[in-house]
Amino acid sequence: MKPKVFITRKIPQEIVEKIEAVCSVEMWEQEEIPIPREILLTKIQDIDGLFCLLTETIDEELLSNAKNLKVVSNMAVGYNNIDIEAAKQRGVIITNTPGVLTETTADLTFALLMATSRRLFEASSYLRNGEWRTWSPMQLTGQDIFEATIGIVGMGRIGEAVARRAKGFDMKVLYHNRNQKPEVEDMIGVEYVELDQLLQQSDFVVILTPYSKETVDLISERELSFMKPTAVLINTARGGIVNEEALYNALRDKKIWAAGIDVFETEPVQLDHPLLTLPNVVVLPHIGSASIKTRLKMAELAADNLIKGVTNQTPDHVVE
Ligand code: GLV
Repeated sequence: MKPKVFITRKIPQEIVEKIEAVCSVEMWEQEEIPIPREILLTKIQDIDGLFCLLTETIDEELLSNAKNLKVVSNMAVGYNNIDIEAAKQRGVIITNTPGVLTETTADLTFALLMATSRRLFEASSYLRNGEWRTWSPMQLTGQDIFEATIGIVGMGRIGEAVARRAKGFDMKVLYHNRNQKPEVEDMIGVEYVELDQLLQQSDFVVILTPYSKETVDLISERELSFMKPTAVLINTARGGIVNEEALYNALRDKKIWAAGIDVFETEPVQLDHPLLTLPNVVVLPHIGSASIKTRLKMAELAADNLIKGVTNQTPDHVVE
C-alpha cells in the first residue's frame, strides 16, 4: 500500500504528480485560504507524511493526533511554525527547503532596501496622485546606497548573498552572527562586529537571522536608539525579531529614517496596523522567495523530502 500524505495547500500539479507516483495524496485544494486547524487536526490522524507551509502551526496538540506520522515537510527554509522538540520526542522527522531560495530572497532584500532608501513607492504615489508639478532640487530625495555601510544581522546563506550584492555597490559590509565566520570574511570581505556597534555604524541594518527564543524582540527600543537618524532598517526574516511597537515609535519620532518590512509578527498584517500609516515604511506581504522558479524549486525540494521521509530514506534537509 502506498504511504498516505496530506498537502495543506494547492501546489503546482507537476509536484502533486511527482508525489502521487509514490504516495496516496490528499490536498487542501485552496490557494488563498489556509486549511482550518480543525480540519488539519482530523487529516493528520492517519497520514504518514505532511507537506505544509509556514502558515500551519505544527505543535504538540497536532502531533499527538498523528499516530503514523513519519515526516513533516515544510515548504520554507524557516521552521519557527514547528515545535521541533515535540516532533523529536515523537520521532517525527522535520524537513525544510534551504539553499534554493537564497538568491531570490537576497534579491528581494536588496529590492526592498533600494525601494525604501530611494522612496520608490512614495514617489510613484506622488506621481499617480497628480502631485508632480515640477522638478525640484530636494523633492523626494532619499539615501544613497553606493559606498554606504550595511550591517547584516545573521550571516547565513541569505546574509552572504546580500553581502555579495552589497559589495557590488561598493558598500562597507559589517555583520553580526552567533558565530564569527572567518571564511566568509576572507571570501567576501565582511567585518564582524558586536550588535550594538553594527547598529551604531550602519546606514542600512538588514535582519536575516532565524526566528527563535533567542531572537524574539532582538531589535527593540534600546537597539533602535543606537541607530543613526538617517538609517534604514530592512527585515526579510521574521516579524517577531523586530518589536513592531518600538519600530513604529522610532519611525514616527524620526529616530530612524525608514524601514522596509516583508514580514510581520502576525500575518497577514491587519490593515489598521500602525506601521501602515507611516509614509517612510515600505511594506510587502512576505514575498522574499516569491519568484516562479524558486517557488517551484521549493515545492520540488519539499516533495523530495516528503517522499524520502515516508519511504524510510533519510531526507536531504532534516532540521536538527
Ligand atoms: C520563508 O519565509 C521561508 O522561510 O522560506
